[in-house]
Amino acid sequence: STNDPSESSNTEADLVARLPTREGWSTPLTLHNQCWLRSHMLGKFMAVRDNFRPRGDDIILATHPKSGTTWLKALAFSIFNRSRCSLDNDNHPLLTTTPQKVVPFIGAVGGDLDYLETLPSPRLLSTHLPLSLLPPAVSTLGCRVVYLCREPKDAFVSRWHFENKIGKGGPIGLEDAFDMFCQGCSAFGPFWEHYLQYWKESSARPREVLFLRYEELVSDPLEVVRKLASFLGVPLTQEEEDGGVAQQVVSFCSFDSLRNLDANKAGGVERAGGKVFIQFSSLFRKGKVGDWANHMSKEMAEKMDRLVEDKFKGSGLVF
Ligand code: A3P
Repeated sequence: STNDPSESSNTEADLVARLPTREGWSTPLTLHNQCWLRSHMLGKFMAVRDNFRPRGDDIILATHPKSGTTWLKALAFSIFNRSRCSLDNDNHPLLTTTPQKVVPFIGAVGGDLDYLETLPSPRLLSTHLPLSLLPPAVSTLGCRVVYLCREPKDAFVSRWHFENKIGKGGPIGLEDAFDMFCQGCSAFGPFWEHYLQYWKESSARPREVLFLRYEELVSDPLEVVRKLASFLGVPLTQEEEDGGVAQQVVSFCSFDSLRNLDANKAGGVERAGGKVFIQFSSLFRKGKVGDWANHMSKEMAEKMDRLVEDKFKGSGLVF
């Protein structure tokens, strides 16, 4: 490694130049180890596998983008930290900080690898990286992983809207976005590889990997909160059950509640690698299941369903 920024950016530019790169989404994407990454983040993400040092008691929230990362972070953070910070507390971090920032992204936003070393255990971390780009020690040390995925048509529509909010270039049309997504070319894609890697990991390590879906968070959030609490090693006590703590977490982290906090309204902005500007308000759009039907044609939906059926055939993962 080098301290000279011009040298390191040259190295990254060289790297990007040597690997397949495609334009179309809000930023160019580069294919590394069979995963499409934002080109300007390539160096940072490549460093994770070699330089991120997992600890056996780490808890990693892993998501394919637009699957409900923000929601999962809010839920897990508030459940995990409730003994030292109750949701009744006027100083609760989630009142002033967007959920995306209270749980650092490994190697990316708020999750610089040196900084992660300084955090006390057990660490609550997050990533969009596929398992194959994390250090193998995540598996061998038995790190707990919560994986959240989403029905692919809804995940796609959510992504298309989002890309057009963060993009500095021209907007990407629905058809072009759809073609690229179905070719596997979207940030952290192919999405099916992402889902499948964590799905298989959850079969191999069922007690250490919790596989969740956005749709079950929507249909039975109370049950997911209980599941999460147990999984995080802080199950709800009878007293908490009687006191309605699960309901309190669900209400606090609901779409309308989070969206209306100042921390998540327009004004809050994140720079990611200097290339992408994320307004925190754009992390909250509709929060519904089945919104794809308002955007995708019947033909598109059928094509995506066939692709999904084909890619997940025999895996046991069904949408
Ligand atoms: P839509 O675009 O379909 O509305 P991510 O956090 O992974 O980027 O995912 C964003 C999606 O989750 C968006 O979906 C967003 O509206 C939805 N979302 C964000 N917070 C939510 C919440 N508290 N409850 C339900 N959905 C939420």
